[in-house]
Amino acid sequence: MGRLKDKIAVITGSGKGLGEAMALLFSREGAKIVVFDIDEPAGRETAEQIQEQGGEAIFVHGDVSNPDDAARLIDAAVDAYGRVDVLVNNAGVHVDRTVANTTEEEWDRILGVNLKGVFLCSKAAIPQMRRQGGGNIICISSISGLIGQLNQAAYNASKHGIIGLVKCMAYDHALENIRANAICPGVMNTPLVASVPEEHIAPYRKTSLLERFAEPSEVANAALFLASDESSYVTGSAMVVDGGYTTK
Ligand SMILES: NC(=O)c1ccc[n+]([C@@H]2O[C@H](COP(=O)([O-])OP(=O)(O)OC[C@H]3O[C@@H](n4cnc5c(N)ncnc54)[C@H](O)[C@@H]3O)[C@@H](O)[C@H]2O)c1
Repeated sequence: MGRLKDKIAVITGSGKGLGEAMALLFSREGAKIVVFDIDEPAGRETAEQIQEQGGEAIFVHGDVSNPDDAARLIDAAVDAYGRVDVLVNNAGVHVDRTVANTTEEEWDRILGVNLKGVFLCSKAAIPQMRRQGGGNIICISSISGLIGQLNQAAYNASKHGIIGLVKCMAYDHALENIRANAICPGVMNTPLVASVPEEHIAPYRKTSLLERFAEPSEVANAALFLASDESSYVTGSAMVVDGGYTTK
């Protein structure tokens, strides 16, 4: 308890899945949470859950791929709590396609949310982090950011892109006391995975060395380490939390 005492954490896509798990865990560890989601009922519910467990949270409704929403998110965090210590770029969307059958609209949507959204929210947060003397950016990539996969063209490109962006943010802002790291989860039991056809997802169960999917809480624990001062010498990294999937 208290590993994030008094820190202000902004978590995108925290209405459901991994984002929700991180929001609840970070709150239990003492952070005040800014929940951000395009799904208004889900986002409100996460903020309410935090309040019910005795924590502090506000909910901001918006779309990470919209520059005005990204700016409004950081403004709302500063209005409510005065600073942004941790930004978790978690919101993500998925589509199962090859390049040949990905439409241009799908490509723009996947890259817009998964990669441009990381750029926009980080761009909005970094000036505030500079003003306050530092900050911490965590971006949720994937094993799809490390290896090639069947039927994952746009998603995989977006997740590889996040790791490059993280390394550049770490490089550019290290001496401003702003750290940036990625997490590369394997398959997790979240609503996102529930939406993928079983015939596409089933083979992944056996490819993890642990022969199971992760619970979101197991990945949230890795994010907690990166969000805390315990990881003060970790920047520019892509932390793999995949049950050994990428060792094969
Ligand atoms: N589930 C997995 O197996 C898995 C594996 C590796 C990486 N990831 C990544 O982890 C992150 C979280 O995934 P999840 O499985 O929890 O997904 P999820 O679909 O369960 O939850 C994602 C949340 O993001 C929100 N969201 C979607 N688009 C948004 C937008 N444009 N603006 C704001 N909010 C938006 C959704 O409403 C939802 O609440 C994603 O970046 C995903 O790519 C997931």
